[in-house]
Amino acid sequence: MAPIYSDKVLEHFKNPRNVGELENPDGVGVEGNPVCGDLMEIQIKVENNIITDVKFKTFGCGSAIATSSMVTEMAKGKTLEEALEITRENVADELDGLPPQKMHCSNLAADALHKAIQNYIEKQEATDTKE
Ligand code: FES
Repeated sequence: MAPIYSDKVLEHFKNPRNVGELENPDGVGVEGNPVCGDLMEIQIKVENNIITDVKFKTFGCGSAIATSSMVTEMAKGKTLEEALEITRENVADELDGLPPQKMHCSNLAADALHKAIQNYIEKQEATDTKE
């Protein structure tokens, strides 16, 4: 059978970046994939509106691992607004594509990142209203 995964997907799957947990994360996002039941958690650190660190943990397939690894690399150093613009299609493009039947796996990473940012924003708003 011809290989269906790009070299980049395979490389990120074999050597995923930013796996693990952050100490005292500023935002946490968890996303489940209704198609397969897999789970993804992304944690972020934010300073001056910039994502300074990102980590992920997943109970997911190889494509979910590769897309999460890529999304953490894409998000690091970006402003919150820029990171919110990262879509599952961007992530798949950066990986030189995913097989069509695996595109649903890429929504975990992008959606978990967006939820982590949303979580950070909500925490900030809650702190602001307390002051
Ligand atoms: Fe579940 Fe890929 S098969 S995320």
